[in-house]
Amino acid sequence: MNRPAWLKDAVFYEIYPSSFYDSNGDGIGDINGIRQKLPYVKDLGCNALWLNPCFDSPFKDGGYDVRDYKLVAPRYGTNEDLFALFREAHELGIRVLLDLVPGHTSEEHPWFRMSGQAERNEYSDRYVWTDFWIKGTPGHPYIGGETPRNGTYMLNFFKCQPALNYGWAKVTESWQTPLDAPAAKATRDAMADVMRFWLGHGCDGFRVDMANSLVKGDDENKSYTCALWKKLLNELRAEFPQAAWVAEWGWPKQALCLADFDMDFYLDHPGNGYNRLVRSADAYLKGNDPLAFATDYLDQYGASHADGYISFITGNHDTPRISWYLTGDQLKVGYALLFTLPGVPFLYYGDEIGMRYLETLPTKEGGYTRTGSRTPMQWAKGPNLGFSQAAADALYLPVDPAPDAPTAAEQAKDPGSLLHTVKAVLALRHRFPDLQADGSFEVLHAQQGDPLFVYRRGKLTLAVNPSQKAVETGLAGTPLFQIGAFEAGRLGPCSFVMLAE
Ligand code: GLC
Ligand code: CA
Repeated sequence: MNRPAWLKDAVFYEIYPSSFYDSNGDGIGDINGIRQKLPYVKDLGCNALWLNPCFDSPFKDGGYDVRDYKLVAPRYGTNEDLFALFREAHELGIRVLLDLVPGHTSEEHPWFRMSGQAERNEYSDRYVWTDFWIKGTPGHPYIGGETPRNGTYMLNFFKCQPALNYGWAKVTESWQTPLDAPAAKATRDAMADVMRFWLGHGCDGFRVDMANSLVKGDDENKSYTCALWKKLLNELRAEFPQAAWVAEWGWPKQALCLADFDMDFYLDHPGNGYNRLVRSADAYLKGNDPLAFATDYLDQYGASHADGYISFITGNHDTPRISWYLTGDQLKVGYALLFTLPGVPFLYYGDEIGMRYLETLPTKEGGYTRTGSRTPMQWAKGPNLGFSQAAADALYLPVDPAPDAPTAAEQAKDPGSLLHTVKAVLALRHRFPDLQADGSFEVLHAQQGDPLFVYRRGKLTLAVNPSQKAVETGLAGTPLFQIGAFEAGRLGPCSFVMLAE
């Protein structure tokens, strides 16, 4: 497989910049805060970062409404700060991916302002417009009445996010432009230019937002969007062979095999393998059998592992935190499984200490139910749990008010903590190439009504029992690592074991 070699042993840490560490006391996390915490990331065992969008934005959708793709949002610092973050991260052996939002801009982006003018100009066709003020875009949300232009424009997500035009798979209306229209090409070139800019300054690649929806009217297999990505990525790879791309796609058969991304997230979609592993009412890690997870995963893995990597996530900025679904030892066992599967795993900041999902927080910057997963990182006991020197009411979001809110400093001192488990499992992953992205994978035991899951990675055998009862594994040997009890082949309640040969 022709993917950047560093991905083999990569473990990503996702950072929501507003909430990680505030270096200047204004209550909002920033780039220099991330720089200060790089040793923490390294110590944890993560060697790559994904930063959610850190670009100039009105922040109506947490920065996914970009106003200037080449400018760091002033509240996070300067471009120089970000360049320095790239350099310092590299010195520690940490790669940095930025978040690319190619499908839409903010309604305040100068391209969109120009596009909405009545007179035709260079940007007129750079977004998806109809040709009459009350004619909508069938099957897609649209907005009228906002601009001098006689037409309505298509939305990708919120009202503030007009869809950029990459052309239509099949042109059926006079206002649609074909894939080879000059404006569609200009949009694509503009995104390539954005990527070149950051890659040229030391960034290591991109997480790509809503990567599967660029071409409108695409077929079921997303053939046209896939073809677009394949061409674009391969152009950039010729210039930046070590750069990596992870898709927000959730369908590896398309994202890896056809669109040619290096990685694709196993997203939480109702009933899919990840959902049935971690988050559904009957999830495997809650103590049920692993069949639904294993079936879906093996199907995607089997079809795509020669082409790229599936990325398991502990969670992300769009999902409730994993601690909402799993608790205590279940989390430890869950992480042991997630971090010893093939592909490239992603850990969402704070999940390493089991930060809580703060369900009742009012929405912030378009977060709605996602807001409760975006609260400040909990560094240590004391004011603002060590996140910021600002007054508590000046924080971007409140810190977890619970008296027992977990913190990194306390867990660092406690050998029985979740943080210690995460570090131990990630250290094993770095030590044994068999456990890494490319290591072979085979399911040895997954049966209906049975919580035991046994799998082989190269020469290592791993067994999981997330249930409350002990199970017979039939396995023998001295554990290289274990959570819970493993004695005479019997795996105790909520336990995990890794054996050699
Ligand atoms: C993606 C992002 C999400 C954002 C949306 C629109 O799903 O992860 O946070 O709101 O795209 O850009
Ligand atoms: Ca700050």
